[in-house]
Order: sequence, then C-alpha cells, then structure tokens
Amino acid sequence: MERLDLAIVLSLAGILAVYLLVKRSSYQGPFPPGPRQLPILGNVFDFDPSSPWTSLTRWKREYGSLVGIKVLGTRIVFLNSYEAMNDLLEKRGNIYSHRPIFTVLGELMTLNKSIMLIPYGPEWRECRRLEHLALGPAAVKDYQKVQERIAATLCQNIMDDPANFFDLVRLNSARVVLHIVYGISPRVIDKEYMSHAEETMRVVGQASVLGAFLCDFIPAMKYLPSWMPFQRKAQDGKAKIERMVTTPFTRVKNEMASGNASPSLLNHLLTSIGDGERDASTEERIMWTTCSMYAAGAESTAGTTLVFLIAMALNPAAQSRAQEEIDAVLGHSRLPQLSDKNDLPYVSALVKEVMRWHPMLPLSIARRTAADDTYQGYFIPKGTVVVPNVCEIAFSPNAKYPPADFIPERFLDSEVQTMDPALWAFGFGRRLCPGKLLGEANVWILIATLLSVFNIKPPADGSLDPHYESQLVSLPKRFNCRISPRSADKVAIVQEALV
Ligand code: HEM
Repeated sequence: MERLDLAIVLSLAGILAVYLLVKRSSYQGPFPPGPRQLPILGNVFDFDPSSPWTSLTRWKREYGSLVGIKVLGTRIVFLNSYEAMNDLLEKRGNIYSHRPIFTVLGELMTLNKSIMLIPYGPEWRECRRLEHLALGPAAVKDYQKVQERIAATLCQNIMDDPANFFDLVRLNSARVVLHIVYGISPRVIDKEYMSHAEETMRVVGQASVLGAFLCDFIPAMKYLPSWMPFQRKAQDGKAKIERMVTTPFTRVKNEMASGNASPSLLNHLLTSIGDGERDASTEERIMWTTCSMYAAGAESTAGTTLVFLIAMALNPAAQSRAQEEIDAVLGHSRLPQLSDKNDLPYVSALVKEVMRWHPMLPLSIARRTAADDTYQGYFIPKGTVVVPNVCEIAFSPNAKYPPADFIPERFLDSEVQTMDPALWAFGFGRRLCPGKLLGEANVWILIATLLSVFNIKPPADGSLDPHYESQLVSLPKRFNCRISPRSADKVAIVQEALV
C-alpha cells in the first residue's frame, strides 16, 4: 500500500472511531417498551383509535407504566401511572406542555387558533391570562347564584318534558358558560346556535382523536387535492368552526355598539382594551379564547351530568343514601346551594365517584415534548406525543372496592385510599384545565339539585346498557331512563326558586 493510501485509510478509520464514540456517548437510553414495530409503518395496525382501551390495558400489563409506540414515524408514549403523569407533566412542565400537531383539525380546520391547541409559549400565556379573568377563584364565586338558578331551571325543564332529559342536560350545561362568556341570559335558549355548536363539537371531537386522519401522521398529505374525502371533511369542519366562533362574537359587538350588551367576559375584555389599542389580531385572540371556553366547558359538564343519571338509574342504594343525607341536612323547604357542600359529604363522594366511574376525558388531552428527555432510564425524544391514560388511575385495583362498581363510600373510607379525581380528571401542570373551579362547582350543584328533586330509575322495561363515544370527550350515547319528582313539595320548591 502506498503511503498516501495508508494515510487515507487511517484517517477514515479515525473518523469512524470518533463517530462511534460520539454516537455512543450521546445514546441516552432505549425508547419506552411497547409492541413490535413494522419497518416504516411502526405500530399502525396495533392501535385502533376508535377503541383504544383493549390495546392500552394489555400493553400496561405487558410493558408497565410507560409504553412507547411509533405510528408512521410519530413516536407516542402512554403514561399509565399517576406517578409518571405527575413527574413529567407537572414537574417537567417546561418540556411537556406543548400540544400534538393536528394537521387536519389544527391547520386545515383552523382550530390551531384555539387555546386548546396553541403551543406552550407567549401567545398561549396571553390566552390563559384572559381566561383567568373569567375563571379565577374570585370570578368563579360571583357565578354561584347563576349556577344554582340554572340547576333549578334544568329541574323545571325536566319536569315539563321528562322524556327529553338527554337534550335538556346538554342545553343546560351550555347555559352557564354562554351566560358568563357572552352574557346570554339563561332564560334565552338559542336553539339554532346550540345545535350548530353541538354538531361542530362532534366534528372536532372526532378529529381530535389520535390517528383520526392519516394526514396527521403524514403532514405532506395536506397538499393533496381538495376533492379528497379528508380534505372535504376538513373544509366542512373549517366552515362550521368559523361560524361557531364568529356568531356570538359579532352578536355581542353589535349589542355593544347599540348600547344593549349585558355584562359578560367578552364585553369586559373588549371594553377594557379600548378602541385605540384594539387591533384585528387582539380581537381575533379574544374571539377565539372566549369560544374555546364554551367549547371546552359545555361538553364535559353535560357528559358528567349524563353519566350521573346512568349511575343513579343503575345504583338505587347510592341514590337513596344521598337523598336521605340531603333531606336530613336541608329539610324539605329548599334546594341545595353551593355553600352546603361541606355539610353533604356523601353527595360530594357520589360526585367524585361519578367522575371516577366514567372519566369524561379518558386519555385527558395529549401533549408533545419540546426537548429530548430521559425518564426511568428511557429516552423520550423531542416531538414525542405523550398521552396521560387517566383511566388507569380511575380503575386501579382496590383491595376492598372493585373499580368497575359504583361505590361512593370508597371516598369516605380512611382505611383504603382512592385517589380524588380532582387530582387527575382536569389534567396536570401548566395546562391544567382553567375551568376546573367552575366545572367542579357546576357538576356538584347540578348533581345535588337533581338528587334532591328527582327519583331516577331505569326505563320501564328495565334495560339500561350504556355506551359511550370513543372520542376526546367520551359522552354517553343516547340512553333512556325515568326521571320523576320525589314529591309535590319538591315540585313546589323548584318553582319557588325560579320566581
Ligand atoms: C367536568 C368538567 C370539566 C372537565 C372534566 C375538564 C377536563 C379538562 C382536561 C382533562 C383538560 C386537559 C388539561 C391538560 O392538558 O392537562 C382540560 C382543558 C381545558 N379546559 Fe376543561 N374540563 C372541565 C370543565 C371546563 C370548563 C367549565 C371550562 C371553561 C369554561 C374548561 C375549559 C378548558 C380549556 C380552555 C382547556 C384547555 C387549556 C389549555 O390547553 O391550556 N373546562 N379540561
């Protein structure tokens, strides 16, 4: 070998050795364990977004509290324990607070402007500041009377039309948020807007499931022609979302211009900014932030109230015990108020059990990592989608109380620990649900008032087999039950409360 050749070979060997050394020293551990991956496709055939539970439960058993899969190049890590959720989403919030990139829902349907999908950063912080004005502890106290009145209104509406309870519950949950955000009186029922909003939320709910569209895993597909079915769905969703966001905003602005606007968060925000400083982008941010509150708040409250009705129809003993407590503490002359909460521990335990028995957001809302990280010896690269599987907390094994059974007593037993849903049902860390206080109060007063006024039973033929939507918010599908006033006294106190 010539000298020159030898020099070249030795240099190449040196470069290779340095490369291997660097590679080795930058190796930060394996990706969390999970099912075997196919080349390129990864686990595309292992994960069925319309029914994720079967795979998730099996994987938790096989691989533990951290399960990693890969779908067409996107890495996804499922967190299956409270400890992992708390360690990562809460304590390492600087890395774990982005949302996943939803090409169809976010970019094509334009929901990227909603606080729910805005990446963690200055714009998101500004939106949270606006939300806090309406949803912080001081503001929420002011809504108590409205919430109590709206609960009484729901009772009156159900007494007038019991067979229609399913739609009335959904309508009612929207009222609190519409009142706070847009100043729309709880007496006004804008059925057209509400049914449009519900239809839009259905489209959004389906599109926000991980893996709903192939385009979410292959973003370049967004350039495909507009006649393709997913593009058509995206255009339809975009039009629906735009109408849902702009309609109430324009309405309040027109009312403000004519001096007829009621007090509301939107009115407050627009007035406090002042015409001079109010440019198009500030207005747009306010418009989207206010609508995000309606979208996020109404569905989860409605769903929890409907789960409560199912639980009561199937568990008459728990229902009677809660009613006895209400009657013993309040007598028969008034409806519950939010200030009664501490005096009604069984009712409060029953509310927690409703939230545990069927969590409204079973996979919470996913996150995306902003940087590489290592946890429990595993490497979680930047851009990984992280999914908190909160069902694992809800249904964790319990020596005394089977997780599948509806037993409010589990929250009153000091010998056996059951984690309070307040710690996980509203999310974690920096992106914790900003409507938590309002949501908890809404759910409590609705459940306490319905328990106080009605008996809830299965349908006359005795069959009640609940099914739930497999989407971000896991609402019960339409079901039947019998709801009737407990006594003439109860009918009278509802009417008195509404005078
Ligand atoms: C029973 C009622 C409710 C439940 C179970 C619930 C649950 C949740 C959960 C699990 C998240 C995800 C948090 C995370 O990523 O860690 C969330 C986010 C959110 N919730 Fe709620 N929520 C409820 C009521 C409300 C209400 C009443 C409002 C507003 C009026 C609201 C507004 C929001 C918003 C805007 C977000 C997105 C926050 C962000 O991405 O920064 N929620 N909620």
